[in-house]
Amino acid sequence: MSSIQNIVSQFTADLEKTAKVADVLNLKAQALGKQGSLSEILKGLKDATPEERKTIGAEANVAKNQIEELVANKITALESAEINKSLLKDKVDFSMRDSILELGLQAAGMHPVSIVQREIEDIFLSMGFEVLDGPHIEDEWHNFEALNIPANHPARDMQDTFWFADMKHLLRTHTSTIQVRGMKTRKPPFRFVGPGKVFRCERTDASHEMCFHQLEGMMVGEDVTIGHLIYFMKTLLSEIFKKEVEVRLRPGFFPFVEPGFELDIKCLICGGKGCSVCKHVGWVELLPCGMVHPNVLKAGGIDPEKNNGFAFGLGLDRLVMMRYGIDDIRLIHSGDLRFNSQFKTF
Ligand code: DAH
Repeated sequence: MSSIQNIVSQFTADLEKTAKVADVLNLKAQALGKQGSLSEILKGLKDATPEERKTIGAEANVAKNQIEELVANKITALESAEINKSLLKDKVDFSMRDSILELGLQAAGMHPVSIVQREIEDIFLSMGFEVLDGPHIEDEWHNFEALNIPANHPARDMQDTFWFADMKHLLRTHTSTIQVRGMKTRKPPFRFVGPGKVFRCERTDASHEMCFHQLEGMMVGEDVTIGHLIYFMKTLLSEIFKKEVEVRLRPGFFPFVEPGFELDIKCLICGGKGCSVCKHVGWVELLPCGMVHPNVLKAGGIDPEKNNGFAFGLGLDRLVMMRYGIDDIRLIHSGDLRFNSQFKTF
């Protein structure tokens, strides 16, 4: 009898010291298992009198129940301590729920320029063009010289430039720099587009920004013609606007193309009546383009006797404004979540 009580009090003391469920189960096996201390006592009953068997048996039963209860309580205590610990660690403040949801929705929106840029990249990828990237900080050679705009050439005034203090580096004024980098690293025939931000030191208004977006395109090969240029530009515009848009082609001067053109589209904001976006002329300059100047091919390491090509520089911001009916370019870089979240959300 007293040894049974000993077993229970020893068990209680040992249980006190355990901190893991596995240890508790081990301890339980040591007491109640087949070779356990309580079982050993029960095994010894075969030599006892019937009277002793009855009392010791009853006592052992009580002890077994006590031990089982102690074990169950201990396991519950250990498990809830574990849960509390992880609750404290991974705390969630549900009072923040609404603002988190709101922020999440806004943050998950895609900027309209990204939406349109990706769409255009897809259109060109499907027509066999590569998509290239280039640095925002450029040197004078890639931004001007290689594009047939030598120092002191009046054409440099067409693009008000943010120069670095060394007067050799600048924030690229156009994505045409990507033409130069693309030519240098490929052999004809090739075709690629290069989207990105460009920078001009300009006064801002509803249709001018200091930082805006362009997508440059170039195709070079042995027999590239103006016909190719017109075909790709028309395909592009009808894919973007999902309908036929009215276009007009005017001669345009850009030192890196000869002949050069301005491709305009009829203003989709006002339908040609005149508004702030089209500067009240009803047409929007959208796609300057032309046949690549031989000097530019040479700068890119390409023999102009064997190859020719076309190039274009698409203004992405105007396109975005047309598509979504945005009448002030400054909204695009405003960083205003109320603006940004109106477009595509995931
Ligand atoms: N780089 C010119 C600009 O920013 C745009 C341009 C015009 C790109 C004619 C071209 C082109 O590729 O052929 O204003």
